[in-house]
Amino acid sequence: MSEAKLEAWLDETRSFAPSPAFAKQANAQPSIYADAAADPVSWWRKEAGRLLWEKEPTNTLEWDLPFAKWFSDGTLNASVNCVDRHVAAGKGDKVAYYWVGDAEGESRTITYGELQVMVNKATNALIEMGVKKDDRVAVYMPMIPEAVVAMLAIVRLGAAHSVVFAGFSADALSSRILDSDCTYVVTADGAFRRGAASPLKPAVDEALQTCPNVKGVLVVRRTGGEVEWTEGRDHWWHEIVERQSDEHTPEFFPSEQTMIIMYTSGTTAKPKGIFHTTGGYLTQVASTYNYVFDVKPETDICWTAADIGWITGHSYIIYGPLINGVTQIMYEGVPDSGGKDRWWRIIEQFKATILYTAPTTIRTLMKWGHDLPQAHDLSSLRLLGTVGEPINPEAWMWYREYVGGNRCPIVDTWWQTETGAILISPLPGITATKPGAAMRALPGVGVDVVDNDGNSVGNGEGGYLVITHPWPSMTRGIYGDPERFKETYWTRFPGKYFAGDGAKRDDDGDLWLLGRIDDVMNISGHRLSTTEVEHALVGHPAVAEAAVVGASDETTGQAIVAFVTLKASGADAAKDQVVVIEELRMHVAKVISPIAKPRQIILTPELPKTRSGKIMRRLLRDVAENRSLGDVTTLTDPTVVNMIAELMGTEAGSED
Ligand code: WTA
Repeated sequence: MSEAKLEAWLDETRSFAPSPAFAKQANAQPSIYADAAADPVSWWRKEAGRLLWEKEPTNTLEWDLPFAKWFSDGTLNASVNCVDRHVAAGKGDKVAYYWVGDAEGESRTITYGELQVMVNKATNALIEMGVKKDDRVAVYMPMIPEAVVAMLAIVRLGAAHSVVFAGFSADALSSRILDSDCTYVVTADGAFRRGAASPLKPAVDEALQTCPNVKGVLVVRRTGGEVEWTEGRDHWWHEIVERQSDEHTPEFFPSEQTMIIMYTSGTTAKPKGIFHTTGGYLTQVASTYNYVFDVKPETDICWTAADIGWITGHSYIIYGPLINGVTQIMYEGVPDSGGKDRWWRIIEQFKATILYTAPTTIRTLMKWGHDLPQAHDLSSLRLLGTVGEPINPEAWMWYREYVGGNRCPIVDTWWQTETGAILISPLPGITATKPGAAMRALPGVGVDVVDNDGNSVGNGEGGYLVITHPWPSMTRGIYGDPERFKETYWTRFPGKYFAGDGAKRDDDGDLWLLGRIDDVMNISGHRLSTTEVEHALVGHPAVAEAAVVGASDETTGQAIVAFVTLKASGADAAKDQVVVIEELRMHVAKVISPIAKPRQIILTPELPKTRSGKIMRRLLRDVAENRSLGDVTTLTDPTVVNMIAELMGTEAGSED
């Protein structure tokens, strides 16, 4: 659909009514909103009945703002809920994962019965290595089944996993290991990407030079590359796991047992260790997976195309789907491993019914052309979802038309690492959908949009997104830093959870998410803070000062643009600028991750500052996006801006 046609259409229609055919068979019925709203806490207690409890909870919510406990006197085991219960119910032969490798033709089919054996063996291996309840175990793995198995084995023991995205650097890994004092690491020798092997183990070896408390490393052989070996510390998976017994008798843990630590960027240079506990988290991921994706465990083939290194992978590749006992596709590669139509071939081959991914990926697939999806039979699909960033209407419409054949509802799901599960989304068959809108708070969730003073805004107005009451899968805090937890989320609007996102209610009262309002950038759905990247840049010996902004980008949503001043006397001052810029980009990749590499670095003799010495980021963002610069009168030296704009090849300084 062309831009102009799309705009005309949006003006006219703007909304798709829920399909009556879908509504008839939907898991959620319209009364669900009123039922939950009448007494949200009791409603969540009912939803907790989706889990298998060893001891049923009698407590529901204990709320000591901002610290919540849910179902605190109940006991359960996360791994039993994901695996053993299905085998016990006679579903051992049901497929849990169709795993699809990066390489063409490489796949594995793993049933719930096989998964149980794998998890039991891995649990026994972890016990032999010394892992105990309450330990923290770092997981630094490619998208292979052993990653899921390792995570389930860790939580089976009452330990917590801290999964670090395998794209992160050795420095990023070591700082995360140190922050939550992980004593074990699970990794692989390497990973595959578009057929090429890239090593992972060397990054672990490097990271562990500064982590003396790590006692053991469990290594999966994936690529067969050469690895260095530390005797006594390192264990091959195929040796220590394979020789274990198939049986493991689980223990049961309190609902508030910590099971997940997941680092995410805040507004400072130091990432936050967001942690989740068991009963509340599992309740809400299981519940939302059921209602939002409307899953039918007997017939659906679900594909969450995300990485286990992010919260989406935790909640909707592992815990939510496994508790619901569905069959999933898990894919190791990138969208164009083996060709730009790889995704469509996977959907066709496995007859996927539900597809959930990020707008960035949709925009990339869209760029490759609609003839690719059209050349494949995608008629098995019945529901589409998006997550991680605002979706532009054009991408939404493309997704609907060329992937969903104009018949699949699209659920635009808003949530965060901190929220654990989806909080805002349409419900298929009940809620209308609008291209670009996440629509409504889910049942049992209280959401508001407020102005600067914390007052609700009316329809047609924008403001800050807040959550008005506690929910089961809310983070229990920032690991080791309760003060920062209070300060970051609960002080801006007292008593309310401040999400850090801007939002708007349209004239119908439906919610549109407008992106971050703080210094957090969203690059291809990955959260990174401007300060984190600035910190990495000024850590380079040639850099005097750096300012980083997120500028709009057609494909990645936002892209990193850095303004850098070099030390005048440094050895690099004489180097070719192009060389320096590339060196700085590689430096950021090394310190944080390749995903944090600035799209553009502008070397400038000065940065624009206010009289009080603060860098004017808003203005730099405008320069980076080639927007009108507005008021620059508080600048110490307004000519700096024009100079920077010139360096970027944009025009600055004029009003619209
Ligand atoms: C953004 C990802 C608009 C938002 C699950 C949030 C979204 C941040 C949406 C959390 C959406 C996520 N529409 N924006 N549907 N979903 N976001 O922690 O800015 O990696 O605060 O969790 O992504 O990112 P995180």
